[in-house]
Amino acid sequence: MKIQGSVALVTGANRGLGKAYVEALFAAGATKVYAGARDPSSITDSRVIAIKLDVTSREDVKAAAKECQDVDILINNAGAMFGSPMLADDSEEALRREMEVNVFGVLSMIRSFAPVLAKNGGGAIANMLSVVSWFTLPFNATYCASKHASLAVTDGARIQLREQGTQVVAVYAGFIDTEMAAGLAEANEPKTPPSQVAERTLQGIIDGVDHVRADDRSEEMWNSIRQDPEGFERSMQKLWDERPR
Ligand SMILES: NC(=O)c1ccc[n+]([C@@H]2O[C@H](COP(=O)([O-])OP(=O)(O)OC[C@H]3O[C@@H](n4cnc5c(N)ncnc54)[C@H](OP(=O)(O)O)[C@@H]3O)[C@@H](O)[C@H]2O)c1
Repeated sequence: MKIQGSVALVTGANRGLGKAYVEALFAAGATKVYAGARDPSSITDSRVIAIKLDVTSREDVKAAAKECQDVDILINNAGAMFGSPMLADDSEEALRREMEVNVFGVLSMIRSFAPVLAKNGGGAIANMLSVVSWFTLPFNATYCASKHASLAVTDGARIQLREQGTQVVAVYAGFIDTEMAAGLAEANEPKTPPSQVAERTLQGIIDGVDHVRADDRSEEMWNSIRQDPEGFERSMQKLWDERPR
């Protein structure tokens, strides 16, 4: 579908990649952008319509779907990462909180906005996943579990929403230059500019594809996991075994 003339809603639009999505949408000709944020006063862009939207709040999600009846592109960008290995002391709590945002939040947005998109001709949903939707980095393993689950939500929704003409795009990236990756010790390699991820996502919507690998790292990971899955797993074990203690 075209971005030109579209009406979009971006979750987590107050900073990081969400802000880049807003920029890219306007640059590509979107006529209206709803910017969702837990604290709408953190939205400073005067071109957008700021809405209070904590994706884990049923009330907020319902209210957003009621208010934003003209949306034809939904960008599920909001995400949380607590940097927890799977067996850390607080790993259950980390996993629950990550699942609330990255899985149930995404599902709740899709369920609430699917009828809106259907009414507006089908439209598109882009879900911000990660390379760790495909493998488990030991240092933030609970986040990886949530992004694996979010991929399954994305794939399941795509299958069911195809008959109403809604495109569901899964977007993968390695380390993006935002606050989220700033805290990761292993993210010391060059990070992808958020603008690139946003622009490639929109191109994916225009091209009608199901999966967007939005940077070089996601292409590399995709290929190396497929070429040598066991070798890839061994490299994750090595990372853990050789971690600084
Ligand atoms: N950075 C990376 O390396 C990387 C790589 C691959 C994928 N991703 C994914 O890309 C997306 C954007 O991440 P980012 O890098 O921009 O991270 P970020 O800088 O940490 O921003 C996260 C955004 O999500 C919002 N958010 C968190 N919990 C929320 C909730 N319950 N309801 C609504 N909004 C919520 C935050 O809002 P507040 O300001 O209120 O906290 C913020 O706007 C996420 O889905 C992330 O998992 C990131």
